Amino acid sequence: MKKNFKAVTLFLVVMMLTSILAACGNSKKIEIGIVLPTKDEERWIQDEERFKAALKDSKYNTEILFSQGSSAKEKENVEALIAKGIEVLIICPFDGDGAASAVKAAKEADITVISYDRLITNTKNVDYYVTFDSVSVGKAQAQYLVDKTTGNGQPLYLYAGAATDNNAFLFFQGAWEVLQPKIADGTFKIANSSEAIALQDVATLDREQMSKIIGQVTTNWEPAEAKNKAQTHLTAAAADAKGDVAILGPNDGTSRAIADVFGADGDITSYVISGQDAEKATIQYIIDGKQSMTVLKDVRVLVKDAMDMAIGILDGTTPATTGTYPNGEIDVKAKQTDVVTVDKDNVKKAIVDSGYYEAKEFTNLK
Ligand code: GAL
Repeated sequence: MKKNFKAVTLFLVVMMLTSILAACGNSKKIEIGIVLPTKDEERWIQDEERFKAALKDSKYNTEILFSQGSSAKEKENVEALIAKGIEVLIICPFDGDGAASAVKAAKEADITVISYDRLITNTKNVDYYVTFDSVSVGKAQAQYLVDKTTGNGQPLYLYAGAATDNNAFLFFQGAWEVLQPKIADGTFKIANSSEAIALQDVATLDREQMSKIIGQVTTNWEPAEAKNKAQTHLTAAAADAKGDVAILGPNDGTSRAIADVFGADGDITSYVISGQDAEKATIQYIIDGKQSMTVLKDVRVLVKDAMDMAIGILDGTTPATTGTYPNGEIDVKAKQTDVVTVDKDNVKKAIVDSGYYEAKEFTNLK
């Protein structure tokens, strides 16, 4: 009897140990979790590819999940990563305010939160921010339009990103800083926004004023919405709002859609349009003369900054930062990276010779 009892106890202990070991084997610990907003835009596929390349030789385990344009899915992703034991979360929010509850859950699990490219807003639960200089992106877009414009009274069409993305405000802020004096001196005449016309004498817009304009000319970062808006604007435009025009195109995906609409209008003689992200499709558009410029945001650098920061945190060091960004509740310590203007004159040098993309991905590149 006693012997039997011992044997059964031993058997149960062995079984328990086996199942614990099996459980450990199944769910590999992940140290760094990465959450990106959507797979539907080339920009974020770029980031995924660059992360994968950077992670190949990392001593830490990482996992990348996509939120597919949904804050609910984003929270699920963060929870799944928390369950896998992450210690650092690198997250680009789909919606800056909408990510608050996801990062709250991360902080409650003692995880360091790095906001990636887009700032998570109106929460204290974000530790660091790695970003491009987004105000400079807007300035570069606007400066290009200014440099390519001759004469007076050139129609100016304004478009913006999604109001849920803090970056849309930073881009617009930078663009307005450069465009407003040129609107005031008569170089440009705003063609598609009554809200912008109402504010055209204001040199520096506050957030509420920018909200009014962005609310009217937002693309929501969606090419289909950009296309619809551009069609509506051109249908409503008077003859003097056509001819040679300038267009503040917010990012490559939406800029290509807008460029297609303007390119198809027989009353548009020529257009200059900005963009950003150096998407491959846009590089081809620039080579073909269909989009005027893009802003190269070298994702390799952003990924390296984010990974260096994450690894530093895991290794117990304090990450180096270059300044702070206010997120509505706190000033978030940030590491910021510069951007490069690309047009047909430097596309080969900036994009291909730099090793960003390979020449074989494009046609007619000279
Ligand atoms: C911004 C990002 C841009 C662009 C846009 C649309 O936040 O900085 O590079 O991709 O979102 O996703």
